[in-house]
Amino acid sequence: DDVTKGDYGHFMLKEIYEQSRVIQNTLNGRISAEHVLEESFGVKAKAIFDQITSVQIVACGTSHHAGLITKYWLESIAGIPCHVDIASDYRYRRIIVQPGTLFVTISQSGETADTLAALRYANELSYVASMAICNVATSSLVRESDFSLLTMAGREIGVASTKAFTTQLVALLLMTLVLGRRHGLTEEKESGYVHDLHKLPALVTDVLKQDTAIQQLSIQFADKHHALFLGRGPQYPVAKEGALKLKEISYIHAEAYPAGELKHGPLALVDDRMPVVAVAPNDELLGKLKGNLAEVSARGGKLFVFADESAGFDDEEEYQLIKLPAVPEVLAPILYTIPLQLLSYHVAILKGTDVDHPRNLAKSVTVE
Ligand code: G6P
Repeated sequence: DDVTKGDYGHFMLKEIYEQSRVIQNTLNGRISAEHVLEESFGVKAKAIFDQITSVQIVACGTSHHAGLITKYWLESIAGIPCHVDIASDYRYRRIIVQPGTLFVTISQSGETADTLAALRYANELSYVASMAICNVATSSLVRESDFSLLTMAGREIGVASTKAFTTQLVALLLMTLVLGRRHGLTEEKESGYVHDLHKLPALVTDVLKQDTAIQQLSIQFADKHHALFLGRGPQYPVAKEGALKLKEISYIHAEAYPAGELKHGPLALVDDRMPVVAVAPNDELLGKLKGNLAEVSARGGKLFVFADESAGFDDEEEYQLIKLPAVPEVLAPILYTIPLQLLSYHVAILKGTDVDHPRNLAKSVTVE
């Protein structure tokens, strides 16, 4: 039931907990045991995908962060280039369209004024086609795009987007795989990713088991004025999303940085009143990330590390560790987002803010 809070104190918490189910709904009918079912993209999609050699993504807010993660997937898995723009910026500048480019918008509501204006602008340019990743079937964005892939998040009421974001990522990963097929992604590799996707709903449930530990941790944020979120590679957009959630609902100033960029500025801010959150799945950049975190500890920064249990972080004095289950690398951006949603929720509760309706923000921004 989408319009009542049920046993939850807030829609946001309910929507965080719905993620396992709505991710499953977004996968249903779109993957077989081994493959992505391309027919689920609609009748027009195949002929369009055959022509695509690059992707342009445009979105706002949390949906833009989903686009930033997709860039990593498209380039590393599908082997095709991807540009990502903020809609309010894209709509007012001169755009050079590479031949063979698919224009993709991402939006929960499908009514965000800047995203819609960007689509209308793009429809006048020489893109092969426009595709919407959207949560509302009847929205303007879906109607005005050549085709769409719907996220099955159900109605999202909390202003801070949670389940819409993770289902967008699922849809965008499916898109990455069907484009990848045309650019050297083997059947065997595709089925490996599809096997991972089948495990995703259960992994979400596992990650949610850290809720109590994260609630404990949140006490250390409630009296702070600033926080820094660090990640490398596709975890950088995850860090951006974590920082955005904290800003939106707890009103703590939070910034995200690619961990390797610390020494070019943000290290100057680090002291013992600055909580630093690190997103640390066990990926190829882990060694580098550990080096960056040592720089934070050396300056007295308070580190909160969300790490894979196999990542070799020990409970040391300079770290507070939240251990997450070992997860397939491709799914890490989806799964590591969830503890950061919980963190911002619990901090906001401690601060007594209006979690579902944060001040000055709207669920859907339909004016410029
Ligand atoms: C508003 C909402 C955000 C959302 C953004 C884009 O700012 O508060 O949660 O990410 O709009 O919305 P859309 O519906 O286009 O995804």
